[in-house]
Amino acid sequence: MKKIILLALGLLVLSCAKHINQSQNTTKESNSLQTVFKNQFYVGAALNERQIKGSDTKGNRILEKEFNTISPENCMKWMFLQPKPNVFDFKMADKYVALGEKINAHIIGHTLVWHSQLAAFMKEEQDSAQMASYIHNHIQTVVSRYKGKIGTWDVVNEALKENGDLRQSVFLNVLGEGYLSQAFKWAAQYDPNAKLMYNDYNICHPKKRAGVVRLVKQLQADGARIDGVGIQAHWDLKKPSIQQIEETILTYAALGVQVSFTELDISVLPNPWELVGAEVSQNFEKYIGDKTMDPYSKGLPDQVQDALAARYQELFKLFVKHQDKIDRVTFWGISDKNSWLNDFPIKQRTNYPLLFDRNYQPKKAYSSLLELQ
Ligand code: G3I
Repeated sequence: MKKIILLALGLLVLSCAKHINQSQNTTKESNSLQTVFKNQFYVGAALNERQIKGSDTKGNRILEKEFNTISPENCMKWMFLQPKPNVFDFKMADKYVALGEKINAHIIGHTLVWHSQLAAFMKEEQDSAQMASYIHNHIQTVVSRYKGKIGTWDVVNEALKENGDLRQSVFLNVLGEGYLSQAFKWAAQYDPNAKLMYNDYNICHPKKRAGVVRLVKQLQADGARIDGVGIQAHWDLKKPSIQQIEETILTYAALGVQVSFTELDISVLPNPWELVGAEVSQNFEKYIGDKTMDPYSKGLPDQVQDALAARYQELFKLFVKHQDKIDRVTFWGISDKNSWLNDFPIKQRTNYPLLFDRNYQPKKAYSSLLELQ
């Protein structure tokens, strides 16, 4: 009898061990970007309107599984939030923030002060006191509304030219460079606990990088709090080099701010003009329909798929190496289907910049990141 009991116990132990093994395998299979990089940095995606409304079923499923931070691709830009003086429309932004709270994500606000996608009345304003008061009202209203909910604000977006000088935006022209620290001070005043960022593209390039350094030092000298620099990371398969990105991480971290990669995507399409970054006013209408500019409209060759996976893997290896300096890595979209890069700088192309394909299936680039666990 004793023998039988021991045998039964032995079988039970074996079966439990098998179960533990199986459940470990299941956990491994259900691994996701947010679990793989959980102890290193947030991993996120920018959301379009359908995703914010929850009607992109497949995209929303990916969002919940993979990402622990979200950015609003368009809905929090000035032209949508405050199209007319003191007339605010928070419908979509409220939905966005509610979604972030529901899925327990770190919620990004993008963006408070940006010359693009600005309301018409702001573009026309010439009076400096009036413009300052508009900016103050915008920051006060928007930041206060989401105080304690939006964890990080892109306070100022794209204030620099490619040579590192300040961009001749309507803000600079009417207010002078003091608008920069003033914007950060107002944001800090209306939510003292939110992280405040300067966000821009092509800022791994040495000249523009030097401009960011000057800007951050100026903000600090003016007594404005800046917590992070957002490197947008609209890149391609080769540029910028890993070395240049690493130098950039080290340069910004040395200023005492955190670094985030805020709009990551890797274009695989020809860029014969060597355009960098994301200046949306650059658009090349005459190339629409030109097949040499759109070589993968029927599918991405394996070789390019592999190159994309390798590029993503080497980037994330670098991010992991510098995890102590990096707060967040956000992809500018969920699937290739809705990437802005299908329409920039030439409209109606077929680009493949993200980790999930047009059918929302994970690409080789996705597995190349899960391999880093
Ligand atoms: O809302 C209209 C819609 O009514 C119309 O039917 C449709 C027809 O094309 O256009 C819609 O507006 C588009 C808008 O996205 C919403 O989809 C604009 O044409 C289009 O220009 C706009 O592009 C956005 C772009 O910012 C504008 O600057 C992209 O989606 C968005 O991904 C992009 O995001 C920026 C970041 O905010 C800042 N960094 C660069 C990045 C890429 O440009």
